[in-house]
Amino acid sequence: MLRTRIVGTGQYLPPRILTNADLEKLTDTTDEWIQQRTGIKQRHVADPGVGSSDLGAEAAKRALANAGISPDQVELIICSTMTSDYLFPSAACLIQDKIGAKRAAAYDLNAACSGFVYAVTMADALIRSGVHKTILVVGADIMTNRLSWEKRDTAVLFGDGAGAAVLQGEEGERGVLSTYLGADGASYDLLYLPAGGSKHVICCENIDNLDLGIVMSGRELFKKAVAAFCDAAENVLRATGMTIDDVDLFVPHQANTRIIFSVAERLGLPREKIFVNIDRTANTVAATIPIALDDAVQQGRLKAGDRVLLVAFGAGLTWGSVMMRW
Ligand code: UT7
Repeated sequence: MLRTRIVGTGQYLPPRILTNADLEKLTDTTDEWIQQRTGIKQRHVADPGVGSSDLGAEAAKRALANAGISPDQVELIICSTMTSDYLFPSAACLIQDKIGAKRAAAYDLNAACSGFVYAVTMADALIRSGVHKTILVVGADIMTNRLSWEKRDTAVLFGDGAGAAVLQGEEGERGVLSTYLGADGASYDLLYLPAGGSKHVICCENIDNLDLGIVMSGRELFKKAVAAFCDAAENVLRATGMTIDDVDLFVPHQANTRIIFSVAERLGLPREKIFVNIDRTANTVAATIPIALDDAVQQGRLKAGDRVLLVAFGAGLTWGSVMMRW
């Protein structure tokens, strides 16, 4: 049976680090509050003039090198991002050029923090149906330049970064076993950026009337996130005939350790099976899961045959899960 397997991962975090202590100087917050309420200790920040495709291309080069695949073998690049360099063209096209993947088609997919899970689901369908053999999935976002530092609720949560995975078809038991996606557009306004899109264009005439910051209802999102994470996890477990005890490593989207541990408690997952790296990266949107997978590989926490559960939730609202055998 042909399955889609991740044959290489890579990540890139911009070198500049902003600690919680640095944030104390920018907004009305404390290191203690941030760590207790979110688990975050620091975040990486891209320099002005750097685009999401710059981070994504570096992560992609590392993933290709780790997979032992040359850029000209890549047939499709899907970049999951909600902060593309430009409104158009896509970050995926810019990445295609930067890594020299001349034969690859390229497009962006915006499912916010669920982007990587959505993109892996698309790639899995294209590989198993025989449309493509080798697909590069990138998650890349730069959020720090969208934050208003005085809005402490969102200022402390996000960081910049990119992760990438090379996916190929392979006969056997390893690879993607099941995927599940969900969305709830009625709740779009729980987390969104009103200005800069087609509805409220930023231009000289209206700049004074626009709210340029991110709008977020944190508490409401928290509750929805826990419910959606559990729903997504239970759906792929059911589809694969597995129970939570069969999961070797749970790699959740990194939005808040309290969300992650509430979900784990509800599902009955012990802490040693949960991968958490939000302390050093904060929430890097579509990049959290591929960065976490790459960290897990580097730390030796993933071995061939391990059953890995990916679960994500984000703006949209969107959510989803992937069960795979590593
Ligand atoms: O990636 C997916 C999308 N994002 C999410 O899923 C985020 C989900 N939500 C959350 O992670 C949490 O709701 C937050 C971390 C955003 C907030 O944590 P919370 O425990 O829900 O705090 P809260 O909003 O209930 O606020 C508690 C208190 C308030 O003060 P009072 O009213 O109790 O006096 C806030 O004003 O904490 C205050 N507060 C802060 N204090 C210091 C809120 N933000 C901060 C801050 N520093 N940054």
